[in-house]
Amino acid sequence: MGRLSNEECGEVGVIMVPFAAQGHLNQLMQLSCLISSYGLPVSYISSATHIRQARVRVNALNPLDVAKIHFHDIPMPPFASPPPDPNSSSKFPEQLQPAWDASLAQRQPFAAYLREMSHKFRRVVVVHDPMMSAVVQDVTSIHNAESYAFNCIPAFAQTFFIGEGLLDSSAERLKELQSLEGCIPEKVFEFVAVHAEPLGYRAGDLYNTCRLIEAPYLDLLEKEETGGKNRKIWAIGPILPTKLSSPATASQNKFLEWLDQQDPKSVIYVSFGTTVSLSDEQIKELALGLEQSKVKFLWVLRDADKGDIFEGDVRRAELPEGFEERVKEVGMVVRDWAPQPEILAHESTGGFMSHCGWNSCIESISMGVPIAAWPMHSDQPRNTMFVTQVLKMGIVVREWDQRTEIVRASAIEKVVRRLMTSEEGEEIRKRAEELAATLRQATEPGGASRLELDSFVAHITR
Ligand SMILES: *[C@@H]1O[C@H](CO)[C@@H](O)[C@H](O)[C@H]1NC(C)=O
Repeated sequence: MGRLSNEECGEVGVIMVPFAAQGHLNQLMQLSCLISSYGLPVSYISSATHIRQARVRVNALNPLDVAKIHFHDIPMPPFASPPPDPNSSSKFPEQLQPAWDASLAQRQPFAAYLREMSHKFRRVVVVHDPMMSAVVQDVTSIHNAESYAFNCIPAFAQTFFIGEGLLDSSAERLKELQSLEGCIPEKVFEFVAVHAEPLGYRAGDLYNTCRLIEAPYLDLLEKEETGGKNRKIWAIGPILPTKLSSPATASQNKFLEWLDQQDPKSVIYVSFGTTVSLSDEQIKELALGLEQSKVKFLWVLRDADKGDIFEGDVRRAELPEGFEERVKEVGMVVRDWAPQPEILAHESTGGFMSHCGWNSCIESISMGVPIAAWPMHSDQPRNTMFVTQVLKMGIVVREWDQRTEIVRASAIEKVVRRLMTSEEGEEIRKRAEELAATLRQATEPGGASRLELDSFVAHITR
């Protein structure tokens, strides 16, 4: 299935409703480009500031594809945007909660927009983050509208959230099945609970994953979730384009130019995403660990996002004295927004030290880069199990039950060397490369994920 003709589209309009956190904004942006490539009109709905955030941080997407998306901001009441606390023992981004609470007020303006759209189109299809379910719930009162949930986490992690230990009996023998303790604070469970009932109104689920690597877990979810409701799951990932567009700015290209000068697979890329702030002490240990490993590194050192990333100052984390000067031949510290997919795709990159957010995982799997997993919160401990124990393309930096302790430089040095310079690391890298080839094929015409995407588009344009 390629681009649909006007008749096939039959005037179906698609509305994307992301959750206000970078990893979620990003994935629905990628999905918008993908769905719009079938010739369907796609609107991307969020607050003005979060649309701006999603747009300035576009990575790897073709600007011409992004230009086809209709961005529509719906108002959100003012919200507090406190800085993250790097000293907190919980790494969950609690500073984002006021923005998430404010998003609940978008229900009425969204309903008004939906009504307007329902007059323009034969059918309106809402694709929303599960944590926006309460906002889009008026879909049920519009006769020609239907909704689908887009899940920003893998099926493997989802099985834990839906029924703790659902995997226990049926799936692989995992080393240990931890509880959800420490992953998500109580207050956030309350927020999730607000969405529980409206989430049930959806007609189906989309996952940014591939059946070739997640079949047992998707099967479990299908059985558990459908419960006689005939709700289908489409596993359409990875949704990042196979052909990456180059970064638009010179500062981003600077990192790639540095990588150009390194040997193949010699560099470890270090980044903990947009929701983690490390303490000064942890940053110091990490810096010394990287230095002592003598492995080349590209380290993105940024503070976690605030609810409004455009407001106020951002902490500039301090590195040990003289560090950048000492390591200038072996490493590069990046404080700007980094073109992560392009970095992972670069032939000099041979490993990724990651918090294991799903975006980072699926990008790393797609590019064949093995992971040194350092999970921080939410689905990340599960994603770590998936990547290290199920896919066997990574090793663990520190066990989850040690999460409140500082990881010392000696431990970091050891894990970096294990991944980058040992025979074991070489095996893991080979495995990662095989997985990447599998995923690449899956998104090509006739591949597993592409067929499911075709089937989803055929379904919504029926
Ligand atoms: C975190 O702790 C360090 C050391 O105790 C202190 O210097 C710093 O001000 C604290 N940072 C914040 C944001 O509380």
